[in-house]
Amino acid sequence: MAFPWNHVIGITGGIGSGKSAVLEILARHGFFCLSADRLTHELLAPGGLAVDQICSLFGSEVLNQEGGIDRRLLGTLVFRNQDRKKALEEVLHPLVLSQSETAFTTALANGEDLLAYESPLIFEARLDQRGFRQIALVICSLETRIDRVMARSGLPREAILLRIQNQMPDEEKVKKADIVINNDGNLEDLEHEVLQKLLRVPPE
Ligand SMILES: Nc1ncnc2c1ncn2[C@@H]1O[C@H](COP(=O)(O)OP(=O)(O)O)[C@@H](O)[C@H]1O
Ligand SMILES: [Mg+2]
Repeated sequence: MAFPWNHVIGITGGIGSGKSAVLEILARHGFFCLSADRLTHELLAPGGLAVDQICSLFGSEVLNQEGGIDRRLLGTLVFRNQDRKKALEEVLHPLVLSQSETAFTTALANGEDLLAYESPLIFEARLDQRGFRQIALVICSLETRIDRVMARSGLPREAILLRIQNQMPDEEKVKKADIVINNDGNLEDLEHEVLQKLLRVPPE
């Protein structure tokens, strides 16, 4: 049976918009939360389920010393190379999706009725067609995003800007989202936004 995504609130937005920060707030308020980025990291970590397949696709030079995938190198290899990007996504997306559906199914069976899923690619990967309960888009100004990602990752400004410019623009996503969460303020302001806009959505 297809997984009932209508139980799940989707959290999306570009790099550094604050999706994970929103997810943390939801978790503190009793939501069962999954992050596609986090699941991807696990798939690419030493012993991860995707490591062998990624190695056969891109060669053993993408392995790091610990036997996981060097995600920064992988990012460089697929950046602006549509064929490679597609090949990578064809390995990762089905795995992330099936792991998410398994974990959400278990959570539902355990009586959890507040479920949230963070993914930067809900619209790009057409997950919005799966019938989420609501899709919330997190937005904040370009400068703030760059500053926050610089502080988080140490990546240079130019590299972050290129990544942002390579994603679907927020203006397009705003039209598709059910809820827009503004994250230009501090974490307390964000919590207020989330409480106002997301905790009011009644459970399915
Ligand atoms: N309102 C905020 N005030 C201060 N720092 C924030 C705020 N929102 C997010 N951050 C920080 O900015 C960085 C990017 O946020 P994050 O939630 O990881 O973004 P995303 O998951 O969308 O890439 C993180 O280090 C996070 O802790
Ligand atoms: Mg995140």
